[in-house]
Amino acid sequence: MTDQTDVIYKTDALIAEDIDAYLEQHQHKTMLRFITCGSVDDGKSTLIGRLLYDSKMIFEDQLAALEADSKKVGTQGAEIDFALLVDGLAAEREQGITIDVAYRFFGTEKRKFIVADTPGHEQYTRNMVTGASTADLAVILIDARKGVLTQTRRHSYLAHLIGIRHIVLAVNKMDLVGYDQATFDAIVTDYAAFARSIGIESFVPMPISGFKGDNITGPSANTPWYTGPSLIQHLESVEVDTTIEQARPLRMPVQWVNRPNLDFRGFSGLIASGTVRPGDAVRVLPSGKTSTVTRIVTLEGDLEQAVAGQSVTLCFADEIDCSRGDVIAAADAPPEAADQFETTLVWMADDAMVPGRAYWLKLATQTVSATVQAPKYTVNVNTMEHLACKTLDLNAIGVAELITDRPIVFEAYADSRTLGGFILIDKITNATVAAGMLHFSLRRAQNVHWQALDVSRQAHAALKNQKPAVLWFTGLSGSGKSTIANLVEKKLHALGKHTFLLDGDNVRHGLNKDLGFTETDRIENIRRVGEVAKLMTDAGLIVLTAFISPFRAEREMVRSLLPDSEFIEVFVDTPLEEAERRDVKGLYKKARGGTLKNFTGIDSPYEAPENPEIRIDTLSEKPEDAAERIVERVIGAWMPTI
Ligand code: ADX
Repeated sequence: MTDQTDVIYKTDALIAEDIDAYLEQHQHKTMLRFITCGSVDDGKSTLIGRLLYDSKMIFEDQLAALEADSKKVGTQGAEIDFALLVDGLAAEREQGITIDVAYRFFGTEKRKFIVADTPGHEQYTRNMVTGASTADLAVILIDARKGVLTQTRRHSYLAHLIGIRHIVLAVNKMDLVGYDQATFDAIVTDYAAFARSIGIESFVPMPISGFKGDNITGPSANTPWYTGPSLIQHLESVEVDTTIEQARPLRMPVQWVNRPNLDFRGFSGLIASGTVRPGDAVRVLPSGKTSTVTRIVTLEGDLEQAVAGQSVTLCFADEIDCSRGDVIAAADAPPEAADQFETTLVWMADDAMVPGRAYWLKLATQTVSATVQAPKYTVNVNTMEHLACKTLDLNAIGVAELITDRPIVFEAYADSRTLGGFILIDKITNATVAAGMLHFSLRRAQNVHWQALDVSRQAHAALKNQKPAVLWFTGLSGSGKSTIANLVEKKLHALGKHTFLLDGDNVRHGLNKDLGFTETDRIENIRRVGEVAKLMTDAGLIVLTAFISPFRAEREMVRSLLPDSEFIEVFVDTPLEEAERRDVKGLYKKARGGTLKNFTGIDSPYEAPENPEIRIDTLSEKPEDAAERIVERVIGAWMPTI
């Protein structure tokens, strides 16, 4: 209607056009992820500030916002004072130092970048590992005045361990050593010897000054003797991991099955490696079923080809089973599946690793239960020495065997970060406790097959005319577990039920006489008892167990061994003061006197059940009544007619 409206309209159109063109250009650039390793003293914030400042493109928040919402308008190349920018970064780093990893986005004409900025001290090893786990390249920062330090070695070891293929040795603060070539050369020689010793095959050394800007965007007149690339040139030209992954065989971990209606069934996921085209023969792991790709579907329409790094939905010619966690692979080059591995673990939780405990293991889109064995050794990250150890504490790195409850599809971490890298999660707190790398599968389980038996557990139980179950009594020493379990067994026996009572004190005289009362031994005690109880239910028995079983995680582990409703947790709830007052075996007295160590309730924990099927308050209920109630509840629940 008026000129005014017109102008606004034109401006809008212009922005829309520009932004689209801008995003289009950005979308087709490769993305390099890198990590900077060093401390504030080495000039890390200054270097990052310099990269952001000199790349003169878009500042991180703006690029992130643009990517998140392509309709938003960004400001390009804002004029920002370099010193102010660096101060801001340093301040942010100091405040954020205990949190985790700061990711910054920037771009140049040729590439997009994400730099992970993590604190350099040893107590932040887990942060560095987190930042490094997705990086294509690591910039190892050295102060030219100080040369190769312990932390340089630690950072390099971690970067290499985590599978970073490209290492840049950035010898910084060259301005403070008069751009002296001999100083630079000596540092490079020193570092090369170390790098070789830990298996780093190559690295690119550069004399730079983050503060002055030497060799950041282009060659510096101050270092005529240096003929290599500038840092940005190098970052723009190294081959990124997704490009390397494209040359490997197809692997796509299935994220979900896409079935909006009966006519469409596709499998969605991010292609981890390789290339796929309609007509390609694929194999679904671990089942091993094969089919042919008919379509590659994306939101922008079907594709003729998709490569590593792309998220797609694949349709098959056949209706084969395939679900979340499976891996779609090239039919002629499938990965292995296994359930026992040698691994390297980086422990990330304040609570130390508990050998024998079951954790959730997440690898690509697979989640399984896994137990970690006692570590073979831990690595001193400053000297690379291997040290004997019983567990892994926060930030410790060690090698340990790991057993999963069912086979997982994997590749060695050295070949595939996606199918070789995993995390462990505490089942009770849901916290991520470790990051790990699978090296190889252990063959020992490979030749042991499950023998199918003709007389089934149902047949065993039917002959006894009962439903098998485990009545799992838990409570403090002297709480009354054995007494009540014993009464319950007598009553069930009198009702003609086939039972067996496994009692802690007795089992520890035979099957478990090699075990003591450390956390690890108690876990193994419960694991064995759980397995025995399970075998006895297979034989059709009603099993009663009376063990302190102080840890929630292991009681839950036994529960998971059994079919639903066959595990009945009976919490014999006697307060510590009362158990101690009774002190039937005189053990509390010894524990208080210091002659008995690791005694439950005194200097070893007891984690009470949160939702037991049955709770007995021994202060208000007599053992005889409690036993009656348990029998009624148990028998009544199964056979309402009795
Ligand atoms: S559990 O913690 O591993 O489940 P379990 O029930 O097998 O323990 O054995 C507990 C019994 O061992 C106790 O009832 C007590 O008689 C005896 N015992 C000896 N030392 C200890 C100890 N340090 N802590 C607890 N019980 C102990």
